[in-house]
Amino acid sequence: MASAGTHPANSSILLNHQLSLHLNPYRYKITQSGGEILYSVGDGTKTSSVPLALAVGGGSRVGQTYLFEKNATYFESRLSYFSAIQGLDLTPGHTNATPQSLESAAGRPLSGAEAHRCFACHTTASTANYTFAPQHLIPGVTCESCHGPGATHVAAMRAGIEGGEQLIFNPRRLTPSDSVDFCGACHRTWWDVSSNKDIGILNLRFAPYRLEKSRCWGKGDPRITCVACHDPHKPLAEDPAFYDQRCLACHASATSNSNADHMAAVCPVSKKDCVTCHMAKYDIPGMHYKFTDHWIRVTKAGEPYPD
Ligand code: HEC
Ligand code: HEC
Ligand code: HEC
Ligand code: HEC
Ligand code: HEC
Ligand code: HEC
Repeated sequence: MASAGTHPANSSILLNHQLSLHLNPYRYKITQSGGEILYSVGDGTKTSSVPLALAVGGGSRVGQTYLFEKNATYFESRLSYFSAIQGLDLTPGHTNATPQSLESAAGRPLSGAEAHRCFACHTTASTANYTFAPQHLIPGVTCESCHGPGATHVAAMRAGIEGGEQLIFNPRRLTPSDSVDFCGACHRTWWDVSSNKDIGILNLRFAPYRLEKSRCWGKGDPRITCVACHDPHKPLAEDPAFYDQRCLACHASATSNSNADHMAAVCPVSKKDCVTCHMAKYDIPGMHYKFTDHWIRVTKAGEPYPD
């Protein structure tokens, strides 16, 4: 998450790839020039170039989208980088229809609120004194995003003030439901999804919503929070075996579950690689990536995606 939002000149993707694409009649190119990254769109007669302001998304898994600023408005680039193809393609949400001008071919204007939200989830401290202040931001999701400003804490600890460790927010003290909602501040909570009516395959990306639909979830249990399976301080574990112990914390035997009103059965099929069968992966059209369904369940071949 540390590279969830970076200055374009520090994006390893932009530094290591020559990116261009011809989407008739427009030619797109991203080039480096004097410490800036320029995004250019040409239609054969005219070319328009703007420096990129923010590279959004670390891009090691899915990809990276770009923001640029024009006349005090942020725009989202029409093209994004996708890791699976190591190149550019349409940004999800943008249509294939031929844009009528160079400006609309470059990207989509974001409303102020939309741009601020983008910064809020992908960078740290873009807001100061309740005002959007992107010049103060720290790129990426950093310690402060989750633990609050650390300066007071560090000063108190250095001065040996008793209770200094209390000044920093420790998410370990949250209840299971609050802990999932805490990650849901960016990954979207159950409420965000139900109230937005984000139905269909697009809600696959909202892990808290999907997880809470699982029968495993029950009323919440510390063994089935986001941090039970993911250490936010480490890279995502990709080996299915890594997750077995998490499942077996509840599913090892009829008596392994001490929580009497939330009894978990033993699998009649396999003792390992649980997530390969019970956490299915689905493509989201246009994203060149298979996302993991956090709705843990017995899946049936050929069943439609359950909302
Ligand atoms: C401030 C917003 C924010 C919060 C809070 C947050 N995340 Fe994330 N998370 C992101 C973003 C943005 C990404 C995409 C990372 C990228 O673009 O590189 C991400 C990616 C991830 C990934 C995928 C692996 C990766 O690094 O790309 C996991 C797993 C994850 N987050 C788990 C969690 C957990 C667990 C919590 C709660 C403890 C949490 N996140 C809280 C914003 C957040
Ligand atoms: C409510 C918080 C939130 C907002 C707002 C948001 N994102 Fe994200 N974004 C996430 C999280 C969490 C992830 C990781 C999970 C996933 O891939 O869906 C992510 C993933 C991504 C990725 C894929 C990164 C990878 O892991 O390779 C890109 C690209 C991206 N976002 C771009 C954007 C852009 C551009 C905007 C604004 C126009 C935006 N996001 C707004 C939370 C947010
Ligand atoms: C995406 C959110 C997120 C980010 C970013 C993050 N942390 Fe954490 N951190 C957590 C959560 C959640 C816990 C509690 C984990 C648990 O309950 O097992 C935690 C626990 C800790 C703890 C242990 C506290 C204890 O009582 O055991 C320390 C120390 C810590 N984080 C330091 C850091 C530092 C330093 C960084 C930056 C390099 C950082 N964290 C970045 C979410 C985050
Ligand atoms: C906190 C304990 C807990 C954890 C951790 C947990 N489960 Fe469960 N799971 C349950 C309980 C309890 C039920 C049964 C709920 C019921 O009968 O209403 C269940 C139900 C299931 C079911 C049947 C669901 C259905 O729709 O028929 C499957 C499959 C399953 N779990 C697999 C897993 C896998 C795989 C993992 C790890 C990725 C896992 N569980 C992690 C407690 C847990
Ligand atoms: C029972 C274990 C388990 C729990 C609980 C869990 N995850 Fe995951 N998560 C996984 C597995 C397995 C993967 C896929 C790893 C792989 O194959 O790369 C994954 C992948 C992800 C990814 C990467 C994108 C994707 O779709 O593959 C994100 C982001 C993520 N989880 C966020 C979360 C958040 C936020 C929570 C809390 C709501 C959460 N996870 C709870 C097991 C879990
Ligand atoms: C090869 C695929 C596969 C793997 C791997 C697998 N399962 Fe299953 N699991 C199934 C199938 C299929 C069913 C449904 C069986 C039936 O209904 O007869 C099932 C059923 C279940 C159930 C529901 C049992 C009940 O009585 O309601 C649970 C719980 C479960 N699995 C947990 C797990 C756990 C935990 C693991 C890892 C230790 C695991 N599974 C590994 C395929 C798998």
